[in-house]
Amino acid sequence: MSLPYKNYNTWSVSVRWFHWINVLTVLALIFVGLIMMYKKELGITGIEAKVGLKELHVIIAYIFATNLIIRILFAFIGSASARFSAFIPTKGYMQSLHSYHASLKAGKPQQFIGHNPLGKLAVTALFSLLIILMLSGLIRAGTDIYYPPFGSLVSSYVAEQDVNPDSLRPYQKEGINKDKLAALNAFKSPFGKIHKYSAYLLMLLIILHVTAVVRAEIKEGDRLISSMFSGKKILIEKPQDDGKNSPS
Ligand code: HEM
Repeated sequence: MSLPYKNYNTWSVSVRWFHWINVLTVLALIFVGLIMMYKKELGITGIEAKVGLKELHVIIAYIFATNLIIRILFAFIGSASARFSAFIPTKGYMQSLHSYHASLKAGKPQQFIGHNPLGKLAVTALFSLLIILMLSGLIRAGTDIYYPPFGSLVSSYVAEQDVNPDSLRPYQKEGINKDKLAALNAFKSPFGKIHKYSAYLLMLLIILHVTAVVRAEIKEGDRLISSMFSGKKILIEKPQDDGKNSPS
């Protein structure tokens, strides 16, 4: 007797590991980032605490950035569910979005082995923001507290000629060339703004993403949440992306 449902392989091991390490590190970065922003209100004062929080944020950020860089590599060399083509909207996207939207309105949601068309949009936006946060954060780490990968370049630039750049501490005033410090501040300021507003946007997108996933889990019955642990989806309907560039 054939069963009314079929088991499909969806997210590869690399995608699942990336996803959960990303969730943990992003939540930790948001948590420490918010403490940094509201430290006065929280009664945290003094330069040591300020620098300590930034250092903690940056150390977690290195795990986040390494995970993201590995994920980007897998988007080029990984299995079908890891590739850019699994989520970046390409030709025929608008048509699939309309058709998915119509199926939702009719109360018979189309099922997918990989991302549904709205999910593709969300994942593309999330990835773009994560990359912007990584790049602006790495620049801030160098220009704000002399941390790698650009920290030694920055300290060598601002140090007075007779001062060893490696001896410079974050926010130290002595031994620093004033004009170069002013130029550095002008350079780093927009990256701070980009970093902060991208973090706000990311928080908003995370709320939308989690709401959409929970809604899909309840209404579309494709076990979306458990599939990010098991790598498998159990579908009743024939998936729209079966055999069409679908994950393996
Ligand atoms: C999802 C990833 C990230 C989120 C959500 C995030 C969030 C934040 C937030 C909310 C702040 C406080 C902004 C402010 O006080 O104006 C901040 C500051 C900072 N972040 Fe991140 N961050 C992320 C990734 C990174 C990465 C990858 C690095 C690089 C190592 C980094 C380095 C920094 C540094 C150095 C600061 C302090 C400098 C500043 O005030 O701009 N962040 N981050």
